[in-house]
Amino acid sequence: MFNKLIKRMADSSSENRQPLLSVSTEEIPAHIAIIMDGNGRWAKKRSLPRIAGHHEGMKTVRKITRLASDLGVSVLTLYAFSTENWKRPKMEVDFLMRLPEEFLSTFLPELIEENVRVEMMGYHDNLPSHTLEAIRKAKEATKNNTGLVLNFALNYGSRSEIVDAVKDIAAQVAAGTLDVASITEDHISERLMTKGLPEPDLLIRTSGEVRLSNFMLWQLAYTEFWFTDTLWPDFNEGSLLEAIENYKQRNRRYGGLKGEDAN
Ligand code: FPP
Repeated sequence: MFNKLIKRMADSSSENRQPLLSVSTEEIPAHIAIIMDGNGRWAKKRSLPRIAGHHEGMKTVRKITRLASDLGVSVLTLYAFSTENWKRPKMEVDFLMRLPEEFLSTFLPELIEENVRVEMMGYHDNLPSHTLEAIRKAKEATKNNTGLVLNFALNYGSRSEIVDAVKDIAAQVAAGTLDVASITEDHISERLMTKGLPEPDLLIRTSGEVRLSNFMLWQLAYTEFWFTDTLWPDFNEGSLLEAIENYKQRNRRYGGLKGEDAN
């Protein structure tokens, strides 16, 4: 596994390549969630249209998926399109909706080969049928894979997701099948689109923005955050390894105490 990883890093021709950091398999975050931001600014800096930044960002998705898979990460969730992104110009939205197809049309054989399982979380309504069909095919082709879960958040919005969970619980209470006093956190968790997945251990947001933008608000309660100024198209294998190295130094206490202080 690591020979392949090191070879891939050596082959990488990214301009902003960073030195290979030593990452041991211990303490690799099981679930990494990424807010991929800065595509537009990357393009603007080069006097290119915004969509050129998104296209370059797709190449980063490929690199980061490969590395996450090689490192033995269980779940990689990528925020590819939010429920608020529909406010963008139609041309940009149309382009973004074509990216999953383009990505999967070239990368699906490798995902199958690498034992990656493709998943999607988000609202299906409003998504074009060609986008849904590309995802459906990829999910079907990879459904028995047992390696990395590559989870695209597409037309995803966390507040709506929580509201839907609450509505479902309220309906059960109204129907008399659920007692208010017995409602627990699990009742919410199991109604979210992440049902069955571990909560993210590490959240990365690129491009210097320091906010959550309606992303996994419930699921990120105890997640470690890593913000970097690097724009998503410039984010590379070294950037991910740096984030993981930093994550490994964190002292996750989940509200309690650890080590000597706990005694
Ligand atoms: C935010 O950057 C990025 C997005 C809204 C789209 C992210 C999509 C990709 C990286 C490609 C996804 C690829 C696949 C395969 C689904 P921005 O446009 O807001 O950047 P800006 O803040 O610099 O304008």
